[in-house]
Amino acid sequence: MSARLAASILTADFARLGEEVAAAEQAGVDWIHVDVMDGQFVPNLSFGPLVAKALRRATSLPLDVHLMVYQPENLIPAFAEAGAASITVQMEACTHLQRTVQQIRDLGVRPGVALNPSTPLITLEEILPELDMVLIMSVNPGFGGQGYLPGSTSKIARLRRWLQESGLAHVDIEVDGGIKADNAATIIAAGATVLVVGSAVFSGIAPVAENVARLRAHFG
Ligand code: DX5
Ligand code: ZN
Repeated sequence: MSARLAASILTADFARLGEEVAAAEQAGVDWIHVDVMDGQFVPNLSFGPLVAKALRRATSLPLDVHLMVYQPENLIPAFAEAGAASITVQMEACTHLQRTVQQIRDLGVRPGVALNPSTPLITLEEILPELDMVLIMSVNPGFGGQGYLPGSTSKIARLRRWLQESGLAHVDIEVDGGIKADNAATIIAAGATVLVVGSAVFSGIAPVAENVARLRAHFG
């Protein structure tokens, strides 16, 4: 089973962001994963819609925006305007999740919901039929370069089974955090369809093309 590779720019060299994203596109990644952090929902502050707008000019790849922010409804229009192909909000940050998912879809953007490691799958029960994607956080959000939480693999498999049984096999399972060449195949076998990879792509040690080729070898 194959999967798409979404390169997270969080660990890219921000002094050369356009070049880094172009190298990732050249190397054959499928999506650019844009980690937006507000310094409140997560203990880190990254960037806003202006960077997404600049990325839109730097690549033709889909921009996969991950909003790790409280009150994402305030930022969704600006990221849609900036050209986001998908916008994922955190379950734990939304008071009116159905309204927020509807807001994303009404703007012509694919809606996703992300679950932190300790947030149970059952919280998705009412919203699942309205989603294009579920993002399973396999690290505690806020930083790149963390270790994959091993309990994530069974969570992915249980979600894949639930989607199959509910006639929702079209819903993507995106997994985010700590994904490397040595765990990618296991994550895909569990049912993930999109793998977010940050530091294993933009490590700064080997060229991006080499990193992506090493990852791809395990993508099936
Ligand atoms: C963490 C972000 C992830 C992270 C992935 O909060 O959501 O997208 O950048 O980076 P790695 O692959 O280095 O764990
Ligand atoms: Zn992310």
